[in-house]
Amino acid sequence: MAYKLNVNGQTKTVDVPSDMPLLWVLRDTLNLHATKYGCGIGQCRACTVHLAGKPVQACLTPISLVKDQPVTTLEGLSPDGNHPLQVAWQDIDVPQCGYCQGGQIMAAAALLAKTPHPTDKEIDTAMNGNLCRCGTYLRIRQAIHKAAGNPVTAQAKTELNAQLAGE
Ligand code: FES
Ligand code: FES
Repeated sequence: MAYKLNVNGQTKTVDVPSDMPLLWVLRDTLNLHATKYGCGIGQCRACTVHLAGKPVQACLTPISLVKDQPVTTLEGLSPDGNHPLQVAWQDIDVPQCGYCQGGQIMAAAALLAKTPHPTDKEIDTAMNGNLCRCGTYLRIRQAIHKAAGNPVTAQAKTELNAQLAGE
């Protein structure tokens, strides 16, 4: 069946089964590979994209439910990779293996769009479902604070130093 989609500001037409997950449409039909397949069952959020500005798991979203809601993937977050989160991610050197990081950044971008200066608690709540098997959680939190322009707290410095010392 043919579906007309708005992906990263561009109109795309795809001819796929109605139950095909958005994740496969993005990766296999539109060749947008920044959105990762982790578990495929809604458990890891490596596949997080924005649907009408809200973070969703692309592996659980059938294409038939997308309709005219705009889809944003990591490729569409900024024109040249300079979204404040992408800059902060590089400054702080957040990723380890990197596999989960696209989903992490998309979840963080949705948080900052709604809450421009989040607290630790708000960050931890918003990012709770995005798993990182490399354990980069403290750097993720620090990068979100940096992108938000939040001051670095003494507790954050202590936590990060402790983590770095243990690595
Ligand atoms: S791949 Fe979608 S939640 Fe894991
Ligand atoms: S950086 Fe390896 S899974 Fe998150």
